[in-house]
Amino acid sequence: MKELKGLKEWAGPLTEAIALRSSVRAFAQAPLPNELLEGMGRWIKELPVPFEHNAKPQLFEAEPGKKLYNNGINPVNNLAVVSQTDLVSISKAGFVGELIMLHAVRLGLSACWFGHYKLAEVGRYIPGMAAAGRIKESTMGYGYGKHVDVGERVICCMPMGYKDETAKRLVDFVAGKNGAKRKPTPELLESPGLAGEIPAEIEAVLELAKLAPSAANSQMWRFGLHDGFKTITVAKPVGYKHFKWEHPDVDVGMCAAHIWLGLIEKGYMPKVDARIDADRAFWTFNVGNVSRM
Ligand SMILES: Cc1cc2nc3c(=O)[nH]c(=O)nc-3n(C[C@H](O)[C@H](O)[C@H](O)COP(=O)(O)O)c2cc1C
Repeated sequence: MKELKGLKEWAGPLTEAIALRSSVRAFAQAPLPNELLEGMGRWIKELPVPFEHNAKPQLFEAEPGKKLYNNGINPVNNLAVVSQTDLVSISKAGFVGELIMLHAVRLGLSACWFGHYKLAEVGRYIPGMAAAGRIKESTMGYGYGKHVDVGERVICCMPMGYKDETAKRLVDFVAGKNGAKRKPTPELLESPGLAGEIPAEIEAVLELAKLAPSAANSQMWRFGLHDGFKTITVAKPVGYKHFKWEHPDVDVGMCAAHIWLGLIEKGYMPKVDARIDADRAFWTFNVGNVSRM
């Protein structure tokens, strides 16, 4: 783990990228330069995340002209986020993948998270992920399945590339418009009554958290504020289900990554914990008794 000063320098560009990121679904078709991909591969290997995890992000090239994603886009360069399927593992995979997404944005690239990637297609590039039984578990051939199971799966995929500025498809316009909207903070608090009392620096961290992506822009994250605002928690509501997306704990991990970056930006090295609570992954960030720059 890096010391706070080094971590702050490392995290700064990622935090800046939060405001620049939005989901892009149309890409220039040329492959990304090798040098850029090699640099990204090295960056991924050295990721200083504040917990143990089993996420295995893998860059891969896809054959043009095939349908890798549910909207038919298929750029050459992609990222598969592989991990075990228990709720904490997939949530940590969301955390790790979101840091990579923000790094890609810093490099001038665009990307979009996809829960609905075509499993058989991904199996051509990531060996062992798309055996016949696994395709049966998936949702009509898309994604990795609905349940916790033994072994590794491709939790999500991400096309990555330079944005095709000329593309003007209705699907991108509608998705982009939806993407811009975020719920007001009081709607996302476990205790909405605290809304008027939140210290400015914690408010700023929550603003960064709210810019996290979420499937169908559902924004299922709920924030808890405890111990005089020294503890921030994030999780989906107990019992939460979405009709199109079976794994909201992945999205919660992305939101947790934004909280972590926001707290580092404010000079904290928070204690981070991710555990199971009822039917959800539950993240806790504590800044009491920690060193501060
Ligand atoms: C876990 C996850 C899965 C997603 N899956 C898809 C998908 O299958 N297809 C798609 O077009 N967008 C997908 N998205 C992108 C969301 O629609 C997008 O993040 C959301 O509308 C918010 O917009 P923004 O990312 O531009 O802020 C996914 C996002 C997340 C976080």
